[in-house]
Amino acid sequence: MLKPVRIVLVGVGGYGHIYLDALTGRNLGAALVGVCDVNPAVAEKFPVLAERKIPVYPNLEAFFAADTADLAIIVSPVHFHTEMVLTCLRRGVHVLCEKPLCLTLDEAHRMEEATRETGKFLSLGYQLNYRKDVLALKRDILAGRYGAPKRLAVYHGFRRGANYYARNNWAGRITVNGREVFDSPFTNACAHNFQMLTFLLGDAMDTSCDVTGLEAELYRANPQVENYDIAALRFQTDRNAPILYYTAHPIRTACWGPVGVLEFEKGIVRYVNERPAIRGELADGTVIDYTQLDPGDGMQKLLDAIDGVRTGKAPVCGVKADIGHIRAVRMAQEQPIVPVRPELCQPMALDGDRFLCVENLEETFAACAQQWKLPREMGISLG
Ligand SMILES: NC(=O)c1ccc[n+]([C@@H]2O[C@H](COP(=O)([O-])OP(=O)(O)OC[C@H]3O[C@@H](n4cnc5c(N)ncnc54)[C@H](O)[C@@H]3O)[C@@H](O)[C@H]2O)c1
Repeated sequence: MLKPVRIVLVGVGGYGHIYLDALTGRNLGAALVGVCDVNPAVAEKFPVLAERKIPVYPNLEAFFAADTADLAIIVSPVHFHTEMVLTCLRRGVHVLCEKPLCLTLDEAHRMEEATRETGKFLSLGYQLNYRKDVLALKRDILAGRYGAPKRLAVYHGFRRGANYYARNNWAGRITVNGREVFDSPFTNACAHNFQMLTFLLGDAMDTSCDVTGLEAELYRANPQVENYDIAALRFQTDRNAPILYYTAHPIRTACWGPVGVLEFEKGIVRYVNERPAIRGELADGTVIDYTQLDPGDGMQKLLDAIDGVRTGKAPVCGVKADIGHIRAVRMAQEQPIVPVRPELCQPMALDGDRFLCVENLEETFAACAQQWKLPREMGISLG
């Protein structure tokens, strides 16, 4: 029998509980040997920790003083990722780090360098990139089946309100305690679809394309938010194909989109839904239906990391797959943020939460996407 892969989980109180559930509820050939969280209350919040005698440490230093692991899963906020990743790699531990990895290319390069020096992998938590249908599409793009990319557009939003912004000290912030965090729908909650497009345009299975320019409209509707909560973006890429991206939190629908259109010289790919239903059509009428493929496990990123520890093979989504999004986040953050006109913002109370939603925002952005335009180019200004 194979020895279980020993895992330490860092940051369990938010999205980290998804990993806790998977590691304690399923037999994945792994043993959760410790949890690190600055909040000691997580021990009571998750009774399974005491039931399974899984120790809770206040930080990684305390964990490494007592124990070691084969794989660290980092689900802390973005402003802690770089130092935690470097600590784990230098301890000889493979890492699966949640997105966004970091906010500067310098940090990304330092982490990549550390993987080379230590021989340990660093994989990222962008779950779309581990799906077998997305990977099949990427293989077809790389094989030239669709020809060169011409232009891509996607819209995607999650409604987020008072509870979301109150859950920690970094939601919606540009900086926290002097550290950059750049939290926005584009940086964080709705990063996945943009990141996937840059990944699909990468020149190898494990790379993304890069972005080279930006026209942007950033807005803030919710005055409690420091950063922007609405973005309409047109990035130029080093593949000579623009990527248009529309995303927002102050919207009426709980989950809006994603809807994506990828135009190529020899065909077009369309997808809808969070678990994307992807279909391609070539100019000669041939339909390529990726929905026929088994997309893999919902936690494929975790399964691949456990497998990577055993085989020594790095999972497909590492630092090189994230260069486009990391640069794009910083480029976006350099743009001015315009407050939305108050008369366009409607308060809404639902399920014990309070939201603001901007009138007709979903319809406006969907119309922009259809015409490959930014709102101002359609004669629309929210500010
Ligand atoms: N892949 C996805 O779909 C997905 C979904 C949600 C969040 N995430 C990512 O997961 C990460 C965490 O997001 P969240 O929404 O769960 O955040 P959160 O603030 O809600 O929870 C973070 C947890 O980490 C703990 N923590 C904070 N600072 C710490 C530190 N220095 N050391 C140890 N623990 C610390 C907190 O106590 C909390 O338990 C982010 O990078 C986020 O983007 C990914």
